[in-house]
Amino acid sequence: MKKLCSQIFSGAAALILFSAAATQAADATHDFVPGEIWRDADGKPINAHGGGVLFHDGVYYWYGELKEGQTFLPKVNKKWGGTRVISGGVSCYSSTNLCNWKKEGVALASNPKDPDDDLACENVIERPKVIFNARTKKFVMWFHQDSPDYAAARAGVAVSDSPAGPFKYLGSFRPNKKVWPLNVTPADKKPGEKNILARDFAGGQMARDMTLFVDDDGKAYQFYASENNATMHVSQLTDDYLRPAGKFARIFIGRSSEAPAIFKRNGKYYAVASGCSGWDPNTARSAVATNIFGPWTELGNPCHGADAEKTFFAQSNYVLPVAGRPDEFIAMFDRWNKWDLRDSRYVWLPLKFDAEDKPAIAWQERWALPEKKLAQSK
Ligand code: GAL
Repeated sequence: MKKLCSQIFSGAAALILFSAAATQAADATHDFVPGEIWRDADGKPINAHGGGVLFHDGVYYWYGELKEGQTFLPKVNKKWGGTRVISGGVSCYSSTNLCNWKKEGVALASNPKDPDDDLACENVIERPKVIFNARTKKFVMWFHQDSPDYAAARAGVAVSDSPAGPFKYLGSFRPNKKVWPLNVTPADKKPGEKNILARDFAGGQMARDMTLFVDDDGKAYQFYASENNATMHVSQLTDDYLRPAGKFARIFIGRSSEAPAIFKRNGKYYAVASGCSGWDPNTARSAVATNIFGPWTELGNPCHGADAEKTFFAQSNYVLPVAGRPDEFIAMFDRWNKWDLRDSRYVWLPLKFDAEDKPAIAWQERWALPEKKLAQSK
């Protein structure tokens, strides 16, 4: 027993030393070390899960879920293992080299006082994304707003004059109320037990995992997992980016795709997404389209090598085009720790294109962007 304990102890000590070395080295060399604790400029673990990155005026802003306190499994979520933490809102960090991040603070705070508020800390505030509207000069945040049992399935919107906030919350809704999708069929319009699109026509469509994408022409789109997560919708936003514009399409029909990340390369739209298995990892998928509303052609699992079928034990959240470098993308994933959600880690990997022009992501223990001044290249 003593021997076992000392083995465990020396193993643990070695692990701590190794982690410390990895974190320090990351700071010193500007390396990305996927899966390791990633510390901010104050030495605290970065707390920005399920997030996204905005590049604005030479600075990268990383927004994410601020997960606080002990993880628990609410009774209502027992069946599917939906563990929760109290939500702290949306955190924001800034960087000029994508490696060293300074905490800017809480961009959108949760409300610890009123359980009936959308932003109540008991509620779900997930997958926040921020885009800049060049016309209104406002920073616009969309996120997945939900009840603790994920039954509300709504989109939340907030706005700010500055990237780090504080953002003003405008409210939540189910998108595309009383609008049929561009690719609707007569069968889709027939109400029925299993026809969630028709069921939700009058009140608006369910919206859970989501992302935003701004096209070269300034038009913005929300991608959200809808119809009880079975089908994704791509929905154009109004010119001020604050509401759905009333034009949307169903994509990846019946494929239960979640965690969408959208980017553009050589005039084509690409998607990386996950399957639907809660916090547990599954096999990622990718797709391409020449029209954002579809048809989208699936390209299979973009991950390669060991543990690729489990997305390196992680789930997509964003694909970041590196500013000023047309063919450099970073695929951002969350490695969820479902029993201690605040200790979930980040897996950032280079996203390349293979000979057939399919997105390809390989595991790397440690990697770096080529040395160039990132912020200056716009
Ligand atoms: C995942 C989803 C996450 C979170 C989680 C809750 O499927 O991608 O954002 O909602 O479920 O279990």
